[in-house]
Amino acid sequence: MPENKNLISNVSDNQFEYLKLIAEIMEVRKRGEKPLAYIRTYGCQQNVADSEKIKGMLAESGFDFVDAPDDADFILFNTCAVREHAEDRVFGNVGALKALKRRHPQILIALCGCMMEQEHIANKIYKSFPFVGLVFGTHSLHHFPELMYNSLVNGKRVFERGNDDKMLYEGIPVRRDGTFKGWLPIMYGCNNFCTYCIVPYVRGRERSRDKNVIIEEAKQMINSGYKDITLLGQNVNSYGKTLPDDVNFSNLLSEIDSIEGDYWLRFMTSHPRDCSKELIDTIANGKHISRHLHLPFQSGSDRVLKAMNRHYDRKKYLDIIKYAKEKIDGLSLTSDIIVGFPGETYEEFKETLSLIKEVEFTSLFTFIYSPRVGTPAAKMDDPVPYEEKSRWFQELLAVQEEIAAKRCASMVGNIEKVLIEEVGKDGEVNGRTSGNIIVELNAPENLVGTFQNVKITKARNWILKGELI
Ligand code: SAH
Ligand code: SF4
Ligand code: F3S
Repeated sequence: MPENKNLISNVSDNQFEYLKLIAEIMEVRKRGEKPLAYIRTYGCQQNVADSEKIKGMLAESGFDFVDAPDDADFILFNTCAVREHAEDRVFGNVGALKALKRRHPQILIALCGCMMEQEHIANKIYKSFPFVGLVFGTHSLHHFPELMYNSLVNGKRVFERGNDDKMLYEGIPVRRDGTFKGWLPIMYGCNNFCTYCIVPYVRGRERSRDKNVIIEEAKQMINSGYKDITLLGQNVNSYGKTLPDDVNFSNLLSEIDSIEGDYWLRFMTSHPRDCSKELIDTIANGKHISRHLHLPFQSGSDRVLKAMNRHYDRKKYLDIIKYAKEKIDGLSLTSDIIVGFPGETYEEFKETLSLIKEVEFTSLFTFIYSPRVGTPAAKMDDPVPYEEKSRWFQELLAVQEEIAAKRCASMVGNIEKVLIEEVGKDGEVNGRTSGNIIVELNAPENLVGTFQNVKITKARNWILKGELI
């Protein structure tokens, strides 16, 4: 039995009672008109998936959703703490709501998500933003109805940061944003404690959802027309470690893959430490699994990787990539990189550059290191000035731009299966390949949400142009 086994529970019936009570309060306040909610989500897909649950709960209380805060009765920002820039945006945007609250004192302004799990942030909100009526962290989602009811009914400010980080709640209603592209969380939290990262502190310990529950949800999504499903977790490769059954991520992936239908299956994020050959083989043999591997390496220097507590080295990373390229036809690789980790030298940064040249990623998510209160890296010596890190960062972008352009150019002439996702500029539509590369093409709007075979005719930097065949 794994020692950090999670406890799975269904969200209590009480919470549904609170949703009814909220509906009654709003009915009186709005004199029968539909109450309106504005939900703004920052950060990663975990937050997007959480917001879809909050919307699911609010929809049960009769709420409709609006795209701007002005007419909303309930405003919620679901926040991200991963970098300082993300936090600054939240503070700026919350500050801008002050005037709105003065004009409409009835509205309830709420903040939730990763930032709110940090005590110093919750305290700052309490002191500096008195018009914020409700604050709760990632651990309190399962009793959001109760918290919202309490703040509506007595007008007092409600601040809550949970700590039951071994619990996992099922049965929260979900209202997905997309009709053909959707997120499916398979696990929550993270146990890795990379030294720069705030996620394990704000999301709690790793816990996996029951395999049968996930498979059932995947079936429902596929049967209701979802074409592109992404399995979500901070480190999907360690799926199952907290479950009593003998399951791992590769088993889960191939069981979902065996569900009949025309759909793509994606997943994120994989951690190189636990990325097994079995997983690569599963992708290679998959029927629906996209030819895309997002495998963040963060740094090309072994010394920096060790200081980051990543538990793999450059060689191990390159070995996995080599194996994956051999096994998976047309594989598209993407990664996350941090530039300017405390103590990183220019020589070490150049090892990151040489790694991206060697692998030839389709695209990269690149970040300048941002110190996070409470993480070990925030206490390390960081002698390189930000301006210098910015220069390294620009150098990296320039190198990657060339690589991406070359990779996209090599696809000209290919016939690719493309999921048409949205109406774009100048009468075009935009879609994505299995490798997650954007394709622009002329096609009727009614093809949005369908797969089409597309001939790639041109490449412009990291975007492809194509035509229907
Ligand atoms: N669980 C995922 C990533 C979660 S955060 C993984 O391990 O890959 C997404 C990305 O943000 C990370 O991969 C990292 O590149 C970046 N990141 C996290 N903390 C950061 C920090 N303090 N400063 C800069 N970038 C950071
Ligand atoms: Fe953060 Fe590392 Fe966990 Fe990813 S694996 S969420 S980078 S601690
Ligand atoms: Fe941000 Fe929380 Fe995701 S910190 S990156 S929203 S897990």
